[in-house]
Amino acid sequence: MKLRRFRLGGAVAALLIACGSVGVATAEEDDRWWAPGEGRVFPATLDYPNEHGTLRVLLEGGPMETRGHPFFEPIGPYGRACVTCHQPADAMSLSAKSAQIQWERLGHKDPLFAPFDGSNCPDLPQEERESHSLLLDHGLIRIARPWPPRDFDGNPIKPDFDISVVRDPTGCNLSKEWGLPSPDPHISVYRRSRPVANFKYILAMGFNFDPKAGLPLPLDPETGEPASHNLMADGRVLSLASQMRDAASAHLGFLEELTPEDIDRIIDFEKRVFTAQQKNRFGGDVNAGGAEGGPLKLAESEPGRLGSQGIPVWSEFDAWANSDDPDISPEERAWRESVARGARNFRERMFLISDSAGITTPIGFGNPVRDRCAFCHNMSQMGMDVAPGQVDLGTTNLPFADPQPHLPLFKITCKAEPHPHYGREIYTYDPGYALTTGRCADVGRITLQSLRGLSARAPYFSNGSAKTLREVIEFYDRRYNIGYTEQEIEDLVNLMEAL
Ligand code: HEC
Ligand code: HEC
Repeated sequence: MKLRRFRLGGAVAALLIACGSVGVATAEEDDRWWAPGEGRVFPATLDYPNEHGTLRVLLEGGPMETRGHPFFEPIGPYGRACVTCHQPADAMSLSAKSAQIQWERLGHKDPLFAPFDGSNCPDLPQEERESHSLLLDHGLIRIARPWPPRDFDGNPIKPDFDISVVRDPTGCNLSKEWGLPSPDPHISVYRRSRPVANFKYILAMGFNFDPKAGLPLPLDPETGEPASHNLMADGRVLSLASQMRDAASAHLGFLEELTPEDIDRIIDFEKRVFTAQQKNRFGGDVNAGGAEGGPLKLAESEPGRLGSQGIPVWSEFDAWANSDDPDISPEERAWRESVARGARNFRERMFLISDSAGITTPIGFGNPVRDRCAFCHNMSQMGMDVAPGQVDLGTTNLPFADPQPHLPLFKITCKAEPHPHYGREIYTYDPGYALTTGRCADVGRITLQSLRGLSARAPYFSNGSAKTLREVIEFYDRRYNIGYTEQEIEDLVNLMEAL
């Protein structure tokens, strides 16, 4: 037994943590943040407490020396590393809360807040908190996309829509240097970092075509092979290698610093990292009592056994439906049963899914289609979609999106066919996949994220519009008029917290 101090829901609590299993390191509060080039050892198993329990990060074949490793060493003029925005304690993503703690510690001097994309716009006064408000308050990184869009080989595409800036609270879209009026026109959208973990699943090929666009899968220009097409919010890269070139030229500043050998080492690391919630907030393990949660199961299972083609999604918690374990408290029993109900609800509770391009068009499911959460999130253990592609939930498009006055608002005018659900004019905070394809039918379509490690990486959705998991469920409840009972919401939230 050791006395540890860590931050729980904002309050510093002194807690007794029993490190039962051998070789599991539990991070101290001060150790949570991985700064570039610290040269720590990445253990085989690393536990991080969060307000819903404990997240576990597992490195297959670990421990690993990070000194000299290109994921961890600073690259480029900002002194940043990949780990800066893909933090182990945040399920290899970046929570808004971690950004706030770093701001309190180092202010704009922390490389996370580099002007290029760690501020609302590079031309703002960088010492001021206000200039980094999107990152600090919403966990958002600026993503500058070329206009007109480019295809996967880098050639300009002729889009079938016009885009204009309706509102520009960060100033970056109308900036003569950074925006549409610049000689090298770009559109700035603001997005959450996505978890760099569990790629065995994210890169698995479930289908050999993209049913959501009704097109063959795009071919990765580097290998000539079809790609899983589940990377990045707008599907703009097709492989981990091309993602890295995108990151090196955008977030880190210097493309030429990553050698082919560095790229191989990063991919090797990315493919060995698994993460998921390991303990619930009552202290119980998510793979006790017959359940099979946690990252070990992810590392050991094969992605060939995917959702609709194999194991029902979240069936790992079905054993908790009648939790008769005499050794647990009544609270923990109630929690387990709630998670099991949430898993069932996720798979079975039907509602009407309407006007959601990628699902209701162009495929022939009809509009609306009566289905459930697991219709889209069906990949077992991961909650992505076995059928690749992007879906418009309305998270970034009006009138469905919750008002985001801090984000830029664009008006899209479709030039050829009107959009099947919105007509000729669309108002959007992030055109999403349309910035990759140049098609107005793709405005607001976003790649599904994996649903693991959610407790460690608020806020949610690509634009950070849901501050909590409850807000995610409430968004769906409003968006599709589901009419959940309070118990159903609670059960789904408890399920999400356990993943
Ligand atoms: C400034 C922060 C930042 C840095 C530094 C950074 N990333 Fe990212 N990363 C992001 C953001 C934001 C996204 C999501 C972008 C989007 O959806 O358009 C992302 C997405 C990714 C993804 C896609 C994951 C998925 O499932 O879609 C991978 C892989 C990735 N990053 C790896 C890296 C690597 C490797 C490096 C270092 C070479 C790196 N990142 C550096 C912020 C960062
Ligand atoms: C029509 C397809 C569809 C259905 C049905 C659906 N989702 Fe989603 N889900 C998505 C897409 C697309 C995203 C990404 C949206 C974004 O980031 O803006 C997403 C994102 C999420 C996220 C956020 C993940 C993250 O990392 O931020 C959670 C949590 C989630 N969904 C849970 C659910 C639950 C619970 C249900 C049932 C109430 C559900 N989803 C129903 C398509 C769907």
